Amino acid sequence: MTDRTVTSGPRPHHPAPDATPDLSSRDPNWWRQAVIYQVYPRSFADADGDGLGDLRGITRRLTHLAALGVDALWLSPFYPSELADGGYDVIDPREVDPRLGTLDDFDALVREAHRLGLKVIVDIVPNHTSHQHVWFQEALRSGPGSPARDRYVFRDGRGAHGELPPTDWQSVFGGSAWQRVPDGQWYLHLFAAEQPDLNWANPEVRADFRTTLRFWADRGVDGFRIDVAHALAKDLDEPLRDLGSPELSSETALAEFPPGTHPFYDRDEVHEIYRDWRKILDAYSPPRMAVAEAWVPGARRALYARPDELGQAFNFEYLQTPWDAQALRRVITESLETANAVGASATWVLSNHDVVRHTSRLMLPPGTDENAWLLSGGHAPAVDPDAGLRRARAATLLMLALPGSSYVYQGEELGLPEVADLPTEVLQDPIWEQTGRVRKGRDGCRVPLPWTTTGPSYGFGPSGAWLPQPPSFAGYSVEAQDGVEGSTLELYRTALRLRRKLLQDETLCWAEETPPGVLQFDRGDGWRCVANLSGEPVSLPAGEVLLTSAPLEDGRLGPDTTAWLGR
Ligand code: GLC
Repeated sequence: MTDRTVTSGPRPHHPAPDATPDLSSRDPNWWRQAVIYQVYPRSFADADGDGLGDLRGITRRLTHLAALGVDALWLSPFYPSELADGGYDVIDPREVDPRLGTLDDFDALVREAHRLGLKVIVDIVPNHTSHQHVWFQEALRSGPGSPARDRYVFRDGRGAHGELPPTDWQSVFGGSAWQRVPDGQWYLHLFAAEQPDLNWANPEVRADFRTTLRFWADRGVDGFRIDVAHALAKDLDEPLRDLGSPELSSETALAEFPPGTHPFYDRDEVHEIYRDWRKILDAYSPPRMAVAEAWVPGARRALYARPDELGQAFNFEYLQTPWDAQALRRVITESLETANAVGASATWVLSNHDVVRHTSRLMLPPGTDENAWLLSGGHAPAVDPDAGLRRARAATLLMLALPGSSYVYQGEELGLPEVADLPTEVLQDPIWEQTGRVRKGRDGCRVPLPWTTTGPSYGFGPSGAWLPQPPSFAGYSVEAQDGVEGSTLELYRTALRLRRKLLQDETLCWAEETPPGVLQFDRGDGWRCVANLSGEPVSLPAGEVLLTSAPLEDGRLGPDTTAWLGR
């Protein structure tokens, strides 16, 4: 007999339906257990042949997403940008970058997505603008003490001549978080110098983002992903506080501070902003969903996902967990409990545009310095691509069986590995230069998608691609996998089709008596998931085998394999 523990139950607000969730267009809860596909626009599909992906390219390829069976797509920024940080340096948040298309192209994309039954989520970047934003240009012209400077964080420097930055705060991308301007003042940029931080104590800043949310919601978008949601509120009272050591500028140091007291991350006041936004989002029918990108631990992260705030927050703890049964079980249980405690649904992410693709990452021995691995061109340690793919497929099938929403990143349905050996001369991520060429950055997961087995950019567009694709991409292309039994693309398609049928309420029951290294849980109505993270084949429990991430070995579940079972 297996002993079962229910680790998630009904929530106080936005109650999930008892039976299969309704993913139809009017259901206000459609997002609670949706599968959302992240499109990184520059790297998805290039219609106009300039080597950079664009909106018309995305629209043409929407049938791929419909056939894949996802519920929604999330578009990373497509706004005018000088691409100092891959589009997260926004010049105008209510326009389309002319290289990527026009607002008409955007409307056509939304229309076509909705026709195909796909929802559309856009990225909002409220922590900073591009330095080319009209507000920042005005701030530079207007001088110290001006209202235009108050929309950003300008301060005088320290030292006899103001030649030292106002504090020791460090940028996420490396180096000081302060940049000096010609009249001698300094401005704050938690990311690249081309991304000045906004001052959220300024009412004009608040008003402008309300306008931006309404602008896109009025155009029919179904939801918003909120970039760096945990950094908007800052302690800017004079005198500004030094942190004392560079490490304390990182989110990973949040535990060193009493909750809510770090000078710029996860401050309690940030939640007022999202309560205000929720009122705007709820004025639409159905209400627009939102998901926080907040690199904040457990219970604090869940606060962003409260029903009167954003509703969901990315769960990066799951992404950061090594491929280890005990560790995963702990993180899954805690994630469900923390989401449940605030009435949110859980989220799961294995890959995105900021991290090493999980096909490669899950094979790195725990504790591996990923940057050193990238600098070695992916050779130290070497990752066997077949073994990596096997593990990634098992991890995906496990993720897709969990209660809540799964966010999948473009190309993972093809099993793409990280392109770890990009030559340094092609790197575009500001991290490379800003760290004095010490950290290689995130380009290896942003290499344009292969659609066909041949062609100048494997079907990405009619000409080349802005980052070079390795020849191995031909074999990973959609064309190479389409209709091929056992391919990763067909695995995702089958899994997503089955998931829709099998989806239950947001509860999960663990089986306690499993062999070491094996995770097993039921989702109700006979849907059972078993993942073998041990090095040995294991016997399967009772149930009809519906899907496996790798063929069974003499009827047994091999290492690095996940199975879904039914009644
Ligand atoms: C988020 C984005 C990342 C970007 C940063 C600054 O973390 O995901 O790509 O560099 O914000 O906007």
